Amino acid sequence: MSVELGGSSRDLPRFFSFANLWIFQIWNHTFYWNGLKHGGGGQPTGKLADAIDRDFGSFDKFKQQFTDTAVNHFGSGWAWLSQDPATGKLAISEGHDAQNPLTQGKIPILTCDVWGTALCIFTFAFPR
Ligand SMILES: [Fe+2]
Repeated sequence: MSVELGGSSRDLPRFFSFANLWIFQIWNHTFYWNGLKHGGGGQPTGKLADAIDRDFGSFDKFKQQFTDTAVNHFGSGWAWLSQDPATGKLAISEGHDAQNPLTQGKIPILTCDVWGTALCIFTFAFPR
């Protein structure tokens, strides 16, 4: 997609749509990579563990639901764990391309890059 900055005002919605796509793709990937660390993982503790138990029944149920959401997402996109700041309730969601829960007023907690980065990891982990 090309965007001409010298175009008419009719091009502005298209430009902002294009800019949004890249802004959220950068944000999502930065958030994703900052959520990983060598030797990390495991079960959460404290307030997050309590909220997961409250809203999903158990960590295992949450893990299964999150995994199912990510695996069943078709095409490029994201699986998210986010919190509604008004209610404190956690929810799992998924969306295409550069979708982000911030656009619905939710606070992202965890994400899984579906397809794109998974392919990169696979390519680097198993080079020909
Ligand atoms: Fe990606």
